[in-house]
Amino acid sequence: MNILFIGDIVGAAGRNIVFQYLKQLKKDYDIDFVIANGENSAHGKGISYKIYERFKSEGIDCITMGNHSFSKREVIAHLDKMNDMVVPYNYPEDLHEGYKVFYVKGLRLCVINLLGSALMHPNRQDPFEAMEEILNKVEADLFFVDFHAEATSEKRLMAEYFKDRLVALVGTHTHVQTADERLLGNLAFISDVGMCGVYDSIIGRDVSEMIEALIKHEKTRYKIAEGAAILSACVIKIDETLKKATAIERIQIRPY
Ligand SMILES: [Fe+2]
Ligand SMILES: [Fe+2]
Repeated sequence: MNILFIGDIVGAAGRNIVFQYLKQLKKDYDIDFVIANGENSAHGKGISYKIYERFKSEGIDCITMGNHSFSKREVIAHLDKMNDMVVPYNYPEDLHEGYKVFYVKGLRLCVINLLGSALMHPNRQDPFEAMEEILNKVEADLFFVDFHAEATSEKRLMAEYFKDRLVALVGTHTHVQTADERLLGNLAFISDVGMCGVYDSIIGRDVSEMIEALIKHEKTRYKIAEGAAILSACVIKIDETLKKATAIERIQIRPY
């Protein structure tokens, strides 16, 4: 089984580069299931129901989220129709189950989304405790985790601790792809898959606006960057009999 995981999709530029390359990537890597992180897909913060529907119609099977899950509050009214979206299990508001079991090639694939501890929202359940809770209650053949966290050390620790019980643990949130992809026990691991968004930006945000806000301390409105985009993703190969990962490959498509 081949799973394509697409890193944080930021704004229109991120969405468009994914739509541009998705069919080709699915064909080239013989993909059975596509997961994409959509926490920044609506103008850099959150997701809308309309964008969710477009993701589904373009061929994304599951959309994971993060700390920006409900930055667009109107999405809450549509949650009952957004069955293939997974919001962090330990999100501070109790609005979602935090995992979902999909049927892929006759196996139950449980996709989990979790928030990290370091430099993240303080009001959430410990991710290690949350992970343990999910593994104890959910019946599935394969467990795939999008660990939405800031610190590479915390992501690696999570992978080491659960390496015999998960098939994949991929990091999201920093928007910068790391070159540490590897197999570890039964799982495929990477600290961060990186983002799909404007290449000349600071994690998707406009550079000039950030200079004004953070260096000159001027009052600004959050501005998403405009321009050519980078696509960041990875492909994970799973042996269906052994129920373990056998390969992980990073993908980056840069505009120049
Ligand atoms: Fe993000
Ligand atoms: Fe995030």
